[in-house]
Amino acid sequence: MKEKILVIGAGGQIGKELVEELCQIYGNENIVASDIKAESATPCVFEKLDVMDAQGIAATIKKHNVKEVYLLAALLSATAEKFPEKGWKLNMDGLLNVLELMREKVISKLFWPSSIAVFGPNTPKVNTPQYTVMEPSTVYGISKQAGERWCEYYFRRYGADVRSLRYPGLISYKSPPGGGTTDYAVDIYYEALAKARYECFLSKDTVLPMMYMPDALRATIGIMQADADKIKIRSSYNLAAISFSPEEIAAEIKSHIPSFEITYKPDSRQAIADSWPQSIDDSEARKDWGWKHNYTLSTMTTDMLKHLSEAKK
Ligand code: SER
Repeated sequence: MKEKILVIGAGGQIGKELVEELCQIYGNENIVASDIKAESATPCVFEKLDVMDAQGIAATIKKHNVKEVYLLAALLSATAEKFPEKGWKLNMDGLLNVLELMREKVISKLFWPSSIAVFGPNTPKVNTPQYTVMEPSTVYGISKQAGERWCEYYFRRYGADVRSLRYPGLISYKSPPGGGTTDYAVDIYYEALAKARYECFLSKDTVLPMMYMPDALRATIGIMQADADKIKIRSSYNLAAISFSPEEIAAEIKSHIPSFEITYKPDSRQAIADSWPQSIDDSEARKDWGWKHNYTLSTMTTDMLKHLSEAKK
C-alpha cells in the first residue's frame, strides 16, 4: 500500500483548504482527512478522529499506512481563554500523542503549527525577531510555546522530522476561522458585503501580523517539501506577510464598497491582541527554505471580495 498523508483537524479553517490543496498535488487517493466533527465534503477518504485519542490516531495511521501528518486540531486564543484547562489539554496532549508516534518511527514527518501567540507583552513588538523574549500570556500561547519546545526536543533526542511555522492571523473565504483574536479580519469582509457595516471587537489602531490563506498554504506545503537539511529551526519558524490595523483594512474595503462603515467596541480579545507583536521578522524562513509571500492588503482585499461576492450570487 502506498504511503499516505493524514490531516488531523481537516474541518477547520486551514484544514479544509489544505486537504484540497494536498489532494491536487498528491492525488485524492494519497490523502486521509480527519476531524472530530462528522465528515464534511472532502475529495479524499475521511476518518472521524479525536486528537486526544492516542489509540484511535495510531489505528487510523496503521489502517491507511500514513507516513506524514499535518496536525491542525487546536483550540485558538479566545476559546482557550474561556476553557483554559481544555485548551491546554487539547493543544498539548494532541501534539504529544503524535510526537510519540514519531519516536516509535510509525510516522516519519510531522507539520505542527505554532503562532504569533507564543510572544507576549515583554516581546519587542515591531519586527519581532526569531529569538527574543517570549513570555506568552494566553493559555493558547503557553501551549504553543511548550509545543515548540517539545518539537525541538523530539528532533534532538529522537531525530523526529517535525516542521513548524508561527502563523500570523489567517484570512480566508472558503472556511471560517473559529475562536481566534484575529478573526475580525475575516468577519469584516462578510459583514461589509452583507450589511456595509461592521462593529469591530478590536480598537481601530490595533496592528497585528496577518496572512492570506493562499500564502499560508504555500508556506505550509513549502516547509514540508523542503530538504530536511534546510530546516535549521526545529522549534518553529517566524512567518510573515502583511501587518495592518482594523482602520487600515476598513479603508481598503471602503475603496471597493464606498458606503462601508466601521465602528469599534473592543472586548476581552483586545488584551490578547495587545500582548502580541505588530510585525514579524521572518528572515530565517526566507533564508533557510526560500519562503516568500505574494499577497498585500490590497491584492488580498480584491480577491476576498471577488470570491465572497461570487459565492453570494
Ligand atoms: N489566529 C490565531 C488566534 O487569533 C493566532 O494564532 O488565536
